[in-house]
Amino acid sequence: MKNKILVTGGAGYIGSHTCIALHEAGYDIVVYDNLSNSSREAVRRVSTLIGQSIEFIEGDIRDAELLKQVFTEHQIFGVMHFAGLKAVGESVAKPLLYYNNNVSGTITLLEVMAAANVKNLVFSSSATVYGDPDVLPIDESAKRSCTNPYGQSKLMVEHMLQDLAATDEGWNLIALRYFNPVGAHPSGQIGEDPNDIPNNLMPYISQVAVGKLKKLSIFGNDYATVDGTGVRDFIHVTDLAQGHVAALNYLEQQKGLTKDCSDKESANKNSTIGFLPINLGTGKGTSVLELVTAFSEVSGQDIPYQFSARRAGDIASCYASADKAKDLLNWEAKLSITEMCQDTWRWQSKNPRGYHSA
Ligand code: NAD
Ligand code: WQD
Repeated sequence: MKNKILVTGGAGYIGSHTCIALHEAGYDIVVYDNLSNSSREAVRRVSTLIGQSIEFIEGDIRDAELLKQVFTEHQIFGVMHFAGLKAVGESVAKPLLYYNNNVSGTITLLEVMAAANVKNLVFSSSATVYGDPDVLPIDESAKRSCTNPYGQSKLMVEHMLQDLAATDEGWNLIALRYFNPVGAHPSGQIGEDPNDIPNNLMPYISQVAVGKLKKLSIFGNDYATVDGTGVRDFIHVTDLAQGHVAALNYLEQQKGLTKDCSDKESANKNSTIGFLPINLGTGKGTSVLELVTAFSEVSGQDIPYQFSARRAGDIASCYASADKAKDLLNWEAKLSITEMCQDTWRWQSKNPRGYHSA
């Protein structure tokens, strides 16, 4: 029997791509999502892409009873925990919502996992936990600090996971710190589908390219960077998805398990992982202007832009040291900025209104 993975937030942008990668790697999956920032259409399209119906449960990670039922009805090997709210600006306006959803929700999930004796977790952390870095590239030992409730919620969960691992060595807790995920599945069937006007750069650019938005504002052109605009480590979402499979493989290897072992007793033996933070980035920085130029070339569309004031809370540059992921997980990002733009454009031009285009 193949190992079964519970994917919280599996209807969302990164979760949906990871469901495909997990399926292709031979895992069984159960998706658990409250659809607060996603749609059934995404789940339907993933089912079509993998050629079989996905087990989907509409539920909230704060609903302990429903979660318990899921762990009773399914023999879960581990959890990929994507469920969370992610808009920095909204988190400043509604801090309690973010702490409740992201922190309390994770506590509930961990409690239910403990009761079910399922102690393998891959958590969606973020480069945001590094705040404004002192040294570039950023490695996993860099100091952590956050300036907004969203970032704090990720950092709080990391601290919780660390404390949990320290007190019970049965836990295997991998925190993947994503840099800037962009791109879409090469089929153009699934991708990022922001509810309102996008906060993030890539969906903003692609909506300008498709004519939904008029003009991009570039927040600041006076940073100490190659061209004055912010520099980020953009990573293709399908590379990111493969990073999750690599993390799961690593977890299984460390515990002397194969993918086909679903015996819970042995699954919690020989644990050596504890809390393990790993960056998922390319290790390369690309400026905002460089990304705009690349997207314009790939799409053949003009991307009108204007320079405006720096956005509060933004930093000049942020890119990963990707060495730990390579050394431990034997994983590295493969896809280029051009491929990130091509796949984003295919998704955006085929689905100008995202999943509502269907
Ligand atoms: P997303 O919003 O597309 O996906 C998150 C999913 O979680 C959504 O489908 C949403 O409906 C679901 N969800 C939210 N709260 C829930 C709850 N209480 N119960 C059940 N489901 C819930 O976001 P994404 O970009 O796919 O991000 C996935 C994870 O990765 C998030 O935890 C996010 O914080 C983290 N992350 C994202 C980025 C990024 O730039 N996209 C970067 C670093 C980390
Ligand atoms: C990238 C660059 C902007 C929009 C955010 C979160 C982080 C993580 C990833 C979850 C910056 C510039 C942007 C626009 C612009 N998410 N920009 N015009 O801020 O690096 O990271 O998403 O964990 O926590 O903070 O990503 O895409 O918003 O911005 O000029 O309309 O693009 O100033 O330099 P960011 P981003």
